[in-house]
Amino acid sequence: MIRTCIIGYGRNGSTMHANPVEKYASDFELAAVCDIDPEARAKAEARFRCPVYEDYHKMLAEVKPEFTIIVTRSYQHAQMAIDSLMAGSDVLVTKPWATEARDAERMIAAQQVTGKKLLPWLPARWGSDLRQLRAIVERGDIGRVFEIRRSTTTFGLRCDWQTEHKYGGGYLLNWGPHLVDQPLQLVKSPVTRVYGNLRQIINPGDGEDNLRVICHTEDGVTVVSEFLIAAGPYPAWVIQGDRGTIIVQGDTIHVYKAHLPEKVGEAEYRSNTAITEYEEKITGQIYGDEFEIYPHIARALRDEEPYFVPLEEALRLSRLLDAARLSSRLGQEVCL
Ligand SMILES: NC(=O)c1ccc[n+]([C@@H]2O[C@H](COP(=O)([O-])OP(=O)(O)OC[C@H]3O[C@@H](n4cnc5c(N)ncnc54)[C@H](O)[C@@H]3O)[C@@H](O)[C@H]2O)c1
Repeated sequence: MIRTCIIGYGRNGSTMHANPVEKYASDFELAAVCDIDPEARAKAEARFRCPVYEDYHKMLAEVKPEFTIIVTRSYQHAQMAIDSLMAGSDVLVTKPWATEARDAERMIAAQQVTGKKLLPWLPARWGSDLRQLRAIVERGDIGRVFEIRRSTTTFGLRCDWQTEHKYGGGYLLNWGPHLVDQPLQLVKSPVTRVYGNLRQIINPGDGEDNLRVICHTEDGVTVVSEFLIAAGPYPAWVIQGDRGTIIVQGDTIHVYKAHLPEKVGEAEYRSNTAITEYEEKITGQIYGDEFEIYPHIARALRDEEPYFVPLEEALRLSRLLDAARLSSRLGQEVCL
């Protein structure tokens, strides 16, 4: 069993991480929980009958965990991860693992010095929609992909720390690890140029709640990621290829295949292209299922398989989000 500690037993730590740790009790032993909030500590203590701590330094020193899961506010992640690595623990850091690439580099340096494992949490890479879309694209059903649009919309008014930059809030960091990272899993070549447009529309605080990030890849794919303050049935995905289009509406993937003729007749000014269509239902969690991911984490910690997010890819994502923020400030595209 892996001696495990959780730092941050709030909304997410007490559910998305504590639940699989509790379920996979033959892999993980919850050795202690740390939270500065006495109510959170009391809940963890009642549920797990484990020691609870207010100070994570004390917990690391006394409990000496093999594995530490960090689920505090976003601005706290990097330093807590570094301290946990230095205390000799493998570490999982929820998203966003860093508020800027400089912090990601510091965490990677600590990982290299200690030789411990550092696991960035990007659960949307396990998204059921992404997996199904990848299979459709790889089958070649829509030909060569040249544009992807990934959108999420809400009129939900946020009112917690996620609305304030000083806590690592704002939707670039909150949603970027899902919405920017996910579509880039469908393209092969690196991003060379980024445009960001971050705006605050309805939330309090100073964090952006409406964002558009446009990435251009070396081989000419445009990837648009959006979190929009909007209502109505906006498609979650539109993927355009040179032989068709995929549109995801609700839980349905619509695939439209374009059957281009070999050539256009001399009397015509454009082809009359036949379109055929099929549908697939999305089954499973679109932002990743922690009950699927945690068994993989146990295997990765035991060196039985590589962790699903290589550090250099998580660092690349942090650099890309930094570039999107800079682009929004400058009002122009940024080259990577
Ligand atoms: N799908 C996902 O992967 C997903 C979903 C939701 C949230 N998150 C991430 O999880 C993190 C936490 O979000 P949340 O909504 O649970 O926030 P939250 O405020 O509910 O929880 C944070 C907890 O950390 C505790 N805390 C603060 N300072 C601490 C310290 N010094 N030591 C110990 N504990 C401390 C707080 O008391 C609180 O209980 C964020 O970074 C967020 O982006 C990820």
